[in-house]
Amino acid sequence: MATKDGPVGPYPARVNSTDDEVDYDKLRRRVLWKMPSGLYIVGSTDGGDRRNGMTTNWITQLSFDPKWIGVGIERDAFTHELIEAGQVFSVCLIDQEDRAIVRKFTKPVEVDLAAKTLNGFAYEEHSTGAPVLTQSVAFLDCEVRDRMEIGNHTFFAGEVVDCDFLKDEATPVLSMSDTRMNYGG
Ligand SMILES: Cc1cc2nc3c(=O)[nH]c(=O)nc-3n(C[C@H](O)[C@H](O)[C@H](O)COP(=O)(O)O)c2cc1C
Repeated sequence: MATKDGPVGPYPARVNSTDDEVDYDKLRRRVLWKMPSGLYIVGSTDGGDRRNGMTTNWITQLSFDPKWIGVGIERDAFTHELIEAGQVFSVCLIDQEDRAIVRKFTKPVEVDLAAKTLNGFAYEEHSTGAPVLTQSVAFLDCEVRDRMEIGNHTFFAGEVVDCDFLKDEATPVLSMSDTRMNYGG
């Protein structure tokens, strides 16, 4: 992941030295990490044989009408390549009980097309063809409608074209705060 060396501006007026810049950079990271977020697996496909699942927390709804979801994806990620190629993605809402699986989706996964598994976890396909983990509590299937390049990420805006619950609606879903992990900041 390409990150800039040293602190990143802009800085508020109270920051007046290089040491202040370093301190402010660390403070801002802690504030950004404090922002509550969910923790999901994003499924992607090029529309052919390539598929992936990726641990993602930069996800939010963008609008009532149309029903758009935004996802922030690293430009170097395989998922980025697949979303560019296929123009679709899925968002899997993960059962809190399954929190261990997010560690298994932080690098390109092993796909078995015949067995329909990602890293050994069963997946299914719905309207877009992007893989959806069968053990998800629920999923959103999205078609890309717009995009914004921001630093080393692309923010893809996708319209929800399909969704469903795969487990009881009352099942608690995973949030970043259920783990000791961070991203960004
Ligand atoms: C807790 C956590 C949250 C993450 N959130 C995101 C995210 O929102 N966007 C992103 O691009 N990468 C995120 N990542 C990093 C990707 O999971 C990781 O870079 C992965 O290697 C890229 O996957 P790919 O190359 O298989 O597509 C996160 C990683 C962790 C551990």
